[in-house]
Amino acid sequence: MLKDIPYSRQWIEEQDIQSVVEILKSDYLTQGPAGEVFERSLATYFGVKRAVVCSSGTAALHLAYAGMGVNEKSLGLVPPITFAATANAFLFLNAEVAFCDVDPVTGLLATENLESVMQEKSFDNSAVNLVAPVSYAGALAPLRESAKIARRFGFSLVEDASHSPGAWSEEEESRESSGACEHTQAATLSFHPVKHICCGEGGAVLTNDDELADRITHLRSHGIARPNDPGGKRPWFYEQTELGWNYRLTDIQSALGIAQLARLDQFIERRRILASRYQKYLSTAPFSDILSLPLANPGHAWHIYVIRFHKTGQRDKAHLFLKERGIHSQIHYVPIYRHPYYERHFDKVRFPGAETFYESCLSIPLFPKMTDSEQDRVVETLADYVEQAR
Ligand SMILES: Cc1ncc(COP(=O)(O)O)c(C=O)c1O
Repeated sequence: MLKDIPYSRQWIEEQDIQSVVEILKSDYLTQGPAGEVFERSLATYFGVKRAVVCSSGTAALHLAYAGMGVNEKSLGLVPPITFAATANAFLFLNAEVAFCDVDPVTGLLATENLESVMQEKSFDNSAVNLVAPVSYAGALAPLRESAKIARRFGFSLVEDASHSPGAWSEEEESRESSGACEHTQAATLSFHPVKHICCGEGGAVLTNDDELADRITHLRSHGIARPNDPGGKRPWFYEQTELGWNYRLTDIQSALGIAQLARLDQFIERRRILASRYQKYLSTAPFSDILSLPLANPGHAWHIYVIRFHKTGQRDKAHLFLKERGIHSQIHYVPIYRHPYYERHFDKVRFPGAETFYESCLSIPLFPKMTDSEQDRVVETLADYVEQAR
């Protein structure tokens, strides 16, 4: 019996297990030294001043937006092709969410649309207004261009980099990297098992702004601080100065994150090899008669490999065909505005780029531990599908 192939999964090795076991035998399961070690390693890897780790990618978005001062007067602009959390975190803070369309081919924020949304939408200039571009699938979002537009309208930027550790792009001989915060005030990561590195659950905010990092660290732990204690009279004293949350990452999770981060380059390399194999095998007929491949570039970090079917209805048929043969694929994403919660609470909207992308997209299996022969099976099964669908 052939084993099912998931669309993604973690890669845990003995050294990951040992790192976790060491913490379980140590004095600190949480609030110990592992969190700070993980933060320093992440900051070094992404080339930023500070990393603040937290309990999930969703918590990272919530903390980043809250730390920057998003509140009920703010407007958050989000591409609809992303996980709901990118938008939800604005709603947690009672801010307004508006959508900005995506490019129907790449699924990335369409900067022309960003400009027109900002021109047409009314917003409070005195509030903290944000754009949250998503480096979808592992391709760098148009951060430089978005930042240029955002600056003109007084918006700040947070990159949702959950899909894109290691992604970069080169333009006019200068390289920009995902998570490096060259054009954004902050970037967020997720350490869910389907992501590049995993902690079980986990996330981080990256920034070059020390004040923002300190504020996020404070909000991560209830908004509670230990003030200076001159003379050491009341060493037990702590006080809550703001309303925060418990979004801490445990030392158990941090230890796993440190071990995983040490292998991130290896994971990315394997993702790139698998993506280039897909490009090679799927780029010609008969595949090219019914589907298109993602735009490949050397800096793509390949969180997911998203093919797009030319004809409406083909995507769902292909998904079922693969599923019946033990191959799991996924749709990334149902546009956020289509979720019943959003339809219930907000005006009904449809964006042409997002609709086209959503109707056609299918993420086929891609994860670093996937073997060449598993990938061959995906290609052969897809070939069987294409043969009977033509
Ligand atoms: C683009 C994007 N943003 C945010 C998140 C939320 O991350 P988490 O699941 O760690 O809360 C995810 C996770 O699926 C994601 O893909």
